[in-house]
Amino acid sequence: MELSKIMALDGEYVAKTYARYPVAFEGGKGATLIGTDGKEYIDFGAGIAVNAFGAGDEEWKRAVIAQLDRIQHVSNYYYQEPQAKLAELLCKKTGASRVFFGNSGAEANECAFKAARKYAAVKYGEGRKRILSLEGSFHGRTLFTLTATGQEEFHRDFGPFVPEVASFPPTEEGLNKALDERVAAIIIECVQGEGGVNELSLPFTRALARECEKRDILLICDEVQSGNGRTGKYFAYEHYGLHPDLVTTAKGLAGGLPIGACLFFGKTADVFSAGDHGSTFGGNPVSCAAAVNIVSRIDEALLLEVRAKADYLRTKLAQFDGVKGVSGIGLMIGLSVEKNSKEVARQCLERGLLVLTAHDKLRLVPPLTITKLEMDEGLSILKEVLK
Ligand SMILES: Cc1ncc(COP(=O)(O)O)c(C=O)c1O
Repeated sequence: MELSKIMALDGEYVAKTYARYPVAFEGGKGATLIGTDGKEYIDFGAGIAVNAFGAGDEEWKRAVIAQLDRIQHVSNYYYQEPQAKLAELLCKKTGASRVFFGNSGAEANECAFKAARKYAAVKYGEGRKRILSLEGSFHGRTLFTLTATGQEEFHRDFGPFVPEVASFPPTEEGLNKALDERVAAIIIECVQGEGGVNELSLPFTRALARECEKRDILLICDEVQSGNGRTGKYFAYEHYGLHPDLVTTAKGLAGGLPIGACLFFGKTADVFSAGDHGSTFGGNPVSCAAAVNIVSRIDEALLLEVRAKADYLRTKLAQFDGVKGVSGIGLMIGLSVEKNSKEVARQCLERGLLVLTAHDKLRLVPPLTITKLEMDEGLSILKEVLK
C-alpha cells in the first residue's frame, strides 16, 4: 500500500496517541530498512532499542518459525518448553533465581512493584508500601508505572495516581530526604533513556545501594531499555557493581517480539505464590523462543563487539560540528546538539537515517549487530545535518 493511503487510514482509525514521522517500512535487513517508496534508511533507532539483531536476522527467524510450526500459544495453566528454557537461560546468565514473564516493559515494572509491596507487607506489615523512583525516569504508561515515572509532563490529566509512590532527584541529598520507614523499594534506570540518555553517577548509586542494603529496601533496576547487551554488558547495572533484588527488562529481549520479564534475585525469589500474579499472553512460546535465540547469542564476544562499535561511534560523534556532548553507555548514546533535536531527526529521515530523540537530545540505539558500513553511512548523514 502507498504511504499516503496508509497515512490516511491511520489518521482516520488509529487512536491519536502517536506523532508519527511520514514514513512506513516494508522490510529490511540488519540496520537497513526499506520504505514503501523503495528508499533505504540506515536504522540508528532499532524500533526503540527493540530489534537487537536488526531486521530479518536469519537465525532468529528460524527460531521463531520453528516455534510457530509447533504451537503459537498455550495458556499459563500448562507447562511449555520455550518459557522454561528462557527462564533458565536468564537465571544462569545473571544469577537471578526466578523469572516472571509479561508482554512489555510496563508490565515487567508492575510485577516488580507488586512483588516489592508483597515482600514488605509479609515482612513488615501494612506501613511499608512506598515505591520511590528518580526524577527524570520513565517506567511505563500503566497507572502504577506512570505514577513512578518521574517526569510531570507524562502525568497531566491522568490523576488520581497510585498512592505511596514518589520521585526524588538522583543525588545523595535527594536520597537521604526521601528515605524513611515507609519505603519498600526504589526503582532506578542506570541510564535514563526517555529522560535524555543520562547515566547515573557512581557515588550516587553506591550510596543508594548502601542504604537499600542497610534498611532492607528492595533495589529494582529497570533494564527495559538498557538491558540485553545494549550498554556492552548484559545489564547496565553491572557497570555500577550493583546487586539488585529485582530486575525488569523487555524491549531487546526477544529481538522484536513482545515480551517483558521481571527477574527475582535472592531474598525476593519466592515472594509470589500461585494466584498472586499472572498474564494471559505473558511468556508466549513464540516470544520466548525468539528470546532464547537472542539471549543465548549475547555472549562475551558480542558484548566486546558492542563496546568496540560504541567507542567508534562515540569518538566520531564527539568530533562533529554542532555536537555539544555525548552521554549514555555503550550503544545507548545521547547527543546534545546545537540545533533543535526534533528538526535534526526530521532532516536525517529525509536523507535516509532514522534517529530518535529524548527531550532536547538525539538518542541513538542502533541494532547491536550494525555493520561498519551502516555506521559510516549513518554518521555521514548525521554529520551533514548537524553542521
Ligand atoms: C526504562 C523503561 N522502562 C519501561 C518502559 C516501558 O516499556 P513498554 O513501552 O514496553 O511498556 C520503557 C519504554 O520506553 C523504558 O524505556
